[in-house]
Amino acid sequence: MWGKLKSVSLFPETNLRSFRITLRPPMLGDWQAWAQVREANQDHIQPFDPRWPAKAFTYGLFERRTHRQAREWDLGLANAFLIFKNEDNSLIGGMNINNICRGAAQYASLGYWLDQGHEGQGYMTEALRMTLQYCFEGLNLHRVNASCLAHNTRSKKTLLKAGFKEEGLAEKYLQIDGRWQDHELFGLPIEDWQKTY
Ligand SMILES: CC(C)(COP(=O)(O)OP(=O)(O)OC[C@H]1O[C@@H](n2cnc3c(N)ncnc32)[C@H](O)[C@@H]1OP(=O)(O)O)[C@@H](O)C(=O)NCCC(=O)NCCS
Repeated sequence: MWGKLKSVSLFPETNLRSFRITLRPPMLGDWQAWAQVREANQDHIQPFDPRWPAKAFTYGLFERRTHRQAREWDLGLANAFLIFKNEDNSLIGGMNINNICRGAAQYASLGYWLDQGHEGQGYMTEALRMTLQYCFEGLNLHRVNASCLAHNTRSKKTLLKAGFKEEGLAEKYLQIDGRWQDHELFGLPIEDWQKTY
């Protein structure tokens, strides 16, 4: 049963692959690896993340969440990816392309996290590079946005390195770790990305 579940994908096959890592949508069979890495990183990620419900790491919640992400993918509202190391297929992070807006907007916003044991080795820089190419060339977006807390220096540096520009401060922008908190806004229009890519 579990063997079968492992290979069930609710998403269109979308693999973003570089030399060291692969980004792909979640599968139900990722639950154990996902729960293990998220639970181990709870203290590391929580200060930069919305508060999670109790029992956040159960299979039931993971299944609901994966089904919701698949519906959002189908509707063109969001694309969720997990990040795996090619070397041993271990799950080391996540990348979400959220709030995909069409019409005159043609933008989306990114959210991401990395296992603490893999920080500082350029994995998120690599993941962002592939995600941006997918956003602009695969989803045909015109702009990609991101935001972070003023004291999240690591995230800020990673965004600037990827070509984002700081665009201002949004007060009480997102409810992070249980509080509505001010965020610095970052943006990258396709015209700027094409110059640097
Ligand atoms: C934000 C976060 C994803 C950044 O991860 P990270 O590993 O620091 O990001 P990077 O991939 O940019 O790694 C950067 C460092 O790796 C090092 N590095 C090693 N090999 C590298 C390579 N091949 N390429 C690039 N950098 C490399 C560099 O020294 C670089 O540090 P520097 O820019 O100070 O020189 C991570 O800290 C995290 O998950 N934080 C908690 C959750 C969070 O904040 N999410 C975002 C909310 S807005």
